[in-house]
Amino acid sequence: MQDLYVVILAAGQGTRMKSQNKPKVLHSIAGKPMLSRVIETAEKLNPNNINVVVGHEKEQLFEQIHFPVNWVIQDEQLGTGHAVKTALPNIPEEGATVVLYGDVPLIDEETLKNLISIAGNNEVAVLTDVLEDPSGYGRIIRNEKNHVIKIVEDKDVDSEQRLIKEINTGIYVIPNQYLHQWLNSLNNNNAQQEYYLTDIVALANEDNVPVKAIRVPKSYLAMGVNDKIQLATLERIYQREIAKQFMQQGLMLLDPNRFDLRGDLIFGSDVIIDVNVVFEGNNVLGNNINIGAHCLLKNVTIHDNAIIHPFSHLEDCEVGESAKVGPYARLRPKAKLAKDVHIGNFVEVKNSKIGIGSKVNHLTYVGDATIGKNSNIGAGTITCNYDGVNKHATIIGDDCLIGSGTMLVAPVTVGNKATTGAGSVITKNCPENQLTVSRSKQISLASWVRPEKENKS
Ligand code: UD1
Ligand code: CA
Repeated sequence: MQDLYVVILAAGQGTRMKSQNKPKVLHSIAGKPMLSRVIETAEKLNPNNINVVVGHEKEQLFEQIHFPVNWVIQDEQLGTGHAVKTALPNIPEEGATVVLYGDVPLIDEETLKNLISIAGNNEVAVLTDVLEDPSGYGRIIRNEKNHVIKIVEDKDVDSEQRLIKEINTGIYVIPNQYLHQWLNSLNNNNAQQEYYLTDIVALANEDNVPVKAIRVPKSYLAMGVNDKIQLATLERIYQREIAKQFMQQGLMLLDPNRFDLRGDLIFGSDVIIDVNVVFEGNNVLGNNINIGAHCLLKNVTIHDNAIIHPFSHLEDCEVGESAKVGPYARLRPKAKLAKDVHIGNFVEVKNSKIGIGSKVNHLTYVGDATIGKNSNIGAGTITCNYDGVNKHATIIGDDCLIGSGTMLVAPVTVGNKATTGAGSVITKNCPENQLTVSRSKQISLASWVRPEKENKS
């Protein structure tokens, strides 16, 4: 195969996004900026280089897009032909160039490889589509032999051309020797007074270079984003595609229209996911797992047979085999639950290990703690881990019973089989096997008289 080069156009202003401070191509599909998606797809073609043509919003792009690409600055947006021309210094006369767009985020490797193969060594290939409503797009003009002879922009069509439903997606493969030649002979004698990249098709015809056209297998692959409505539309199309693929692989989504993946998901067999669950980053689910409705999971590993009840928020954490979490639980970074752990409602766990079979069922904060096996942490317990400056550790052994409302003022250690009395403020270590109580003695005042309202008359 010949050497490949990629040019990604991203210099347009994106005014219709109505974003004050965010360039269009930094808006995300499934949690990843559109431009990053296009660059990642381009990388899969193993090109010699990738050139991204950018305009006035370049600084933000440089800051936020970290890929080994050549940034090419197009100071004035004089048209798509002019944009590709600004990248020519990075493209030799041999090989071929693939033209892509920063705002056409879902183009895939397979379609591009097809396009590259039909272009062969010396021909132009254009990716087309057939649309019920072709307005706004360049039309593909064919001769009586059905050969593609030119592309006419929507603003330049005559009444007959206007009816053509075969449109230009804007994605091409062009042999470099011609690309250099043709881009240098473009003019801007057209309705928009722009240097149109599309004019290379007519130039190819003049030079007897064949132009092949293939239709994109699914329209969304070549759909562009101009405003937030189109962004949301593509997002949902993409999510449904992923949902469909996952379901074909055996994942049960109770409603594939209410599933959102913003990252990667690996799952075992018999996993059931209820509605409105959002997955961010890298999540790994074992076998036979249930995720309840309205949960958010970010970088989470969940082992076999675990249940996550509704409205739980899990981030950078690990849930052990057969553990139960939620409803309304929050597992923060470095929470690590062993097998059979139960975390109940309104419980927050951060940077803590909880041992096999231990339970933290109600209204509790566990931070910077290590809890052993089969311990029970009573409702309203708090590990007071922060002295205002530093964080301190709480260590609780095996088979402990921490009474409701215990304040564990860290650093503190509770020995195996220890019990703390409800409402205790624990500031010193609690010995094994003993009950530790730390609260003021209860008294009742027999002489006390309940105050009565004064008679105002
Ligand atoms: C272009 C095609 C049209 C096709 C349509 C598909 C041309 C002349 N027309 O039209 O045939 O049907 O795409 O969506 O190519 N850009 C730059 N620098 C510029 C001009 C544009 O980087 O000077 C970038 C824009 O950011 C945008 C893309 O190129 O991402 C397309 O430009 P735009 O002017 O929107 O072309 P269309 O009118 O959509
Ligand atoms: Ca456009």
